Amino acid sequence: GAPQTRTPTGAETGAPAIANGQQGAYLTTANGARLRDTDHSLKAGPRGPVLLQDHHLREKIMHFDHERIPERVVHARGAGAHGVFTAYGTAEAVTRAGFLKKGRETEVFVRFSTVLGSRGSADTVRDTRGFATKFYTDEGTFDLVGNNMPVFFIQDAIKFPDIIHAAKPHPDREIPQAQSAHDTFWDFVSLHTEAQHHTIWNMSDRGIPRSYRTMEGFGVHTFRLVNEAGETVLAKFHWKPKLGVHSLTWEEAQMLNGIDPDFHRRDLYDAIEAGAYPEWELGIQVFPDTEEETFAGIDLLDPTKIVPEELAEVQPIGRLVLNRTPTNFFAETEQVAFHLGHLPPGIDVTNDPLLQGRLFSYLDTQLTRLGGPNFTQIPINRPHAAVNDMLRDGFHQHAVHAGVAPYRPNSLDGGNPFPAGDAENAFVDVPVTVAQAPKVRANPASFDDHYSQVRLFWLSMSPVEKEHIIRAYTFELGKCYHQAIKERQLQSLANIDPVLCEQVATGLGLPAPQPTVPLADVAPSPALSQVGREWPAD
Ligand code: HEM
Repeated sequence: GAPQTRTPTGAETGAPAIANGQQGAYLTTANGARLRDTDHSLKAGPRGPVLLQDHHLREKIMHFDHERIPERVVHARGAGAHGVFTAYGTAEAVTRAGFLKKGRETEVFVRFSTVLGSRGSADTVRDTRGFATKFYTDEGTFDLVGNNMPVFFIQDAIKFPDIIHAAKPHPDREIPQAQSAHDTFWDFVSLHTEAQHHTIWNMSDRGIPRSYRTMEGFGVHTFRLVNEAGETVLAKFHWKPKLGVHSLTWEEAQMLNGIDPDFHRRDLYDAIEAGAYPEWELGIQVFPDTEEETFAGIDLLDPTKIVPEELAEVQPIGRLVLNRTPTNFFAETEQVAFHLGHLPPGIDVTNDPLLQGRLFSYLDTQLTRLGGPNFTQIPINRPHAAVNDMLRDGFHQHAVHAGVAPYRPNSLDGGNPFPAGDAENAFVDVPVTVAQAPKVRANPASFDDHYSQVRLFWLSMSPVEKEHIIRAYTFELGKCYHQAIKERQLQSLANIDPVLCEQVATGLGLPAPQPTVPLADVAPSPALSQVGREWPAD
């Protein structure tokens, strides 16, 4: 049958397009009736009362009353930009994804964000930053929903509500963790010690970026790539900023929160408007797809672990240029909906338990945040590939679907949307073998090492970066009311490095504990330090 491509303008009913209805010589109601006056409500005489029959008044106020939608439960504060991704073709051997073929250009929308603050919070707080990219590929949208840090706090999505509850503003006072009491955050990360790796990244200068333009981005999880021959590799995605990685000092960050809470948002907008287009290179670390799903002894399904670049080089596969600011913040930056399940043929997920939980969470939250199931029809979320789904009805349905009924095969409607040979172009799930094992609520033993990579990060820092980290732990832990929580976190620091622990303990006026696990024997990784790194040339 004829593809039932959406025409959200309502053209199928003969209605005019409403893409931008706010034009014309005179004002109208939402129903197109011409208005004479929008400054005075209809009253019984000039001294009132106001009459209930004033439809224009009620419509105008009703619509205004409903202008706000729920903010994102996390990453509420963000700034977005449009751009273009150009593929180098260097990934062709490992993935069949069409948008990664040499010279292919793909439109993108990127949204950067902080994680914990509300929509109106300040930009330069100490926090992780979101780095979410929507590639509008002609094989369907690909969303790379990453952060500016390569690891995550937890290994299993079931703990996500817990870490966020511990880190978001206090429920009684609604005071943010930053610059107030910190007990719940430090309680969580010292009890769930898998969080120590992400935490040291937060305590480092990476937690206070200079600009969105000077942040790295990471897909965090390991993905599975599939090439034309059906061969697979495991891979991690990295964004490398052309300007290099730069941070604020803590004093700058704090002052900017007061002087210009929109510092990052303004910087992104101003740079693009001035023609200084922000650029990143996308790169991948590639690993053999083995049954163990490990590389150099590192479990690739553990999102609290990195693979050091010395062990697996980041190979550049394309270039992103952000060259256009949004026309309307709400329509684009606020309504954009990313999802890890938006994958083109050639890129698939792995069994990383954090990734698997995220696959559920984003659709679920967007159902509420964007008012029903039809948010792929919102302009910023519309794929740039032809759509022929069997989804119908629901709140805010804009399409007027034709045809007998949405089921396939359908002998009345003449349609089977899977013509012979189409499997070549379709997304095919990699038939990975599922373990013959009892159902359990447990992690593999390889997830149990919570300290060696934290030590690797610490040992990789330059002296000035180490000094900043010590000061950050001391300042933030100094805000805790509960001494037991500070002491428990000092125990984690002792397991990372005695110098780090002693320095922070001294700053807090507490004794430094002895390690409870043997200190890991790791060689520093120069690639982790921001000082003296080499970045892509022009
Ligand atoms: C939003 C990244 C883990 C739930 C976001 C956003 C980013 C992001 C960048 C903002 C998207 C935007 O700008 O619109 C990450 C990364 C994670 C992670 C890199 C770990 C590697 C999780 C987990 C869950 C989760 C484990 C839940 C189980 C959410 C939700 C939103 C969100 C509910 C709001 C989405 C929306 O309202 O559209 N995340 N996240 N995230 N994340 Fe995550």
